[in-house]
Amino acid sequence: MQADLIFRDAMIVDGTGAPRRRGDVAVTGDRIVAVGSLSDWRGGVERTCSGMVLAPGFIDPHVHYDEAVLTHPTLDHAVSQGCTTVINGNCGFSIAPLCFAGPLPMPLGAIVTDALTRFASFAAYRGALEAEPASVNTACLIGHSTLRLNAMADLDREADRTERKAMCRQLDQALSEGGLGLSTGPFYPSARHSTTEELIEVASILPKHGKLYVTHMRDEGDRVIEALEETLAIGAACGCGVHVSHHKCAGLANHGKSEVTLSMIDACRARQDVGLDTTPYIASATMLDSGRHRQASKVLVTESRPHPEMAGRDLDDIAREWGTDRDGAVDRLVPALGVFFLMDEADVRRILAHELTMVCSDGVAFGKHPHPRVWGTFPRVLRYARDEGLFSLETAVRKMTSMPAERFGLVGRGEIRSGNFADIVLFDEAAVSDAASYDEPTRPARGIRGVYVNGRKVWADGTHSGERPGHVL
Ligand code: ZN
Ligand code: CU
Repeated sequence: MQADLIFRDAMIVDGTGAPRRRGDVAVTGDRIVAVGSLSDWRGGVERTCSGMVLAPGFIDPHVHYDEAVLTHPTLDHAVSQGCTTVINGNCGFSIAPLCFAGPLPMPLGAIVTDALTRFASFAAYRGALEAEPASVNTACLIGHSTLRLNAMADLDREADRTERKAMCRQLDQALSEGGLGLSTGPFYPSARHSTTEELIEVASILPKHGKLYVTHMRDEGDRVIEALEETLAIGAACGCGVHVSHHKCAGLANHGKSEVTLSMIDACRARQDVGLDTTPYIASATMLDSGRHRQASKVLVTESRPHPEMAGRDLDDIAREWGTDRDGAVDRLVPALGVFFLMDEADVRRILAHELTMVCSDGVAFGKHPHPRVWGTFPRVLRYARDEGLFSLETAVRKMTSMPAERFGLVGRGEIRSGNFADIVLFDEAAVSDAASYDEPTRPARGIRGVYVNGRKVWADGTHSGERPGHVL
């Protein structure tokens, strides 16, 4: 039997959580065509993988690369950590459909920099990506805040009946054109004034499309429990699945609350479709003026439009230099992004280890000094498995492959199986590790030996191939 490419003698961790097994994997075109002992097969190219783990490429269910997939299509920070699929349009902010012509509020303005003409329809965005593919597969949610911008002249209030109808119509069309689901971000100013009723009305479009309500909840700090109650109520009212993005318990006063939130999720999962993802870090990242600086033990400025020279610096040092306090410094630095140390390591681990939790980077692509998760998330979770014994390697891989594929309906991905797309990562189990730190956040991960998207090599031993075989999902 003949294949284009055969990986020989790999330790296959197939993404399902099943125990690893040694074997070969054959690829022809963009598909896996055989898995097992393939001694009677010949490959156009054969790669010996002795001592390496072969796993499905990692799927990042929560990123903000809506524009970056077009303007920086090689996405080195994603592929270098083994990521082969990303889901954009999160936290209520999507690049499309965007018919609003004015300046974009933060954080949408940090995701969509207007390097491109705005996409009035999701179909137009999809078409642009199909014409100029990225190195990874991409899917995109439709953001409620983006719909609000299109429908409302004033975001500082609840949407009225006509505006809600307009949002529903736009969402319905965008989902028909391939939008993956609805994302909301009532945490952010653009959607803070939306009521639960508004969210329910917009989300009621989802069930007929069989798609998810994905949310950056209204509160992830003092009122995280109430915010989770709201999220679950929206799912129950609409009959749609709900997915809690980057679940966290922010602020010293809320450390430990994940015991409550996770048991709430456990208590309702028998009667309601619920899921979640999280990043493996105690620091979060968002716009600098999100109020988070009042909850954080330490804040790093990652980007400031008026003061680009402050990128990478500690907010308290800047405040001291300017003879002001954190609030005063934030006022002078905005529009800006920051990294906030506000979670407890025990919560991070408890959330990460929960049976329903998948892994996300919540990456924003731009800026010289990003959060290290942009470059390190997936290898860091592998390190948690190996060095901390938080779960098995098989479970870690499952949380980063078949779980998000199944949850978001990415058919034919997330599992090493004959017939599936050949999205594959090869890594050294003993060496794999994140190298990006808060001081040096753009260092590529260690131990990632090869990354293949739809059968084509995009990354090998520290170098991008330049290939852009990504599909739009
Ligand atoms: Zn978010
Ligand atoms: Cu996000």
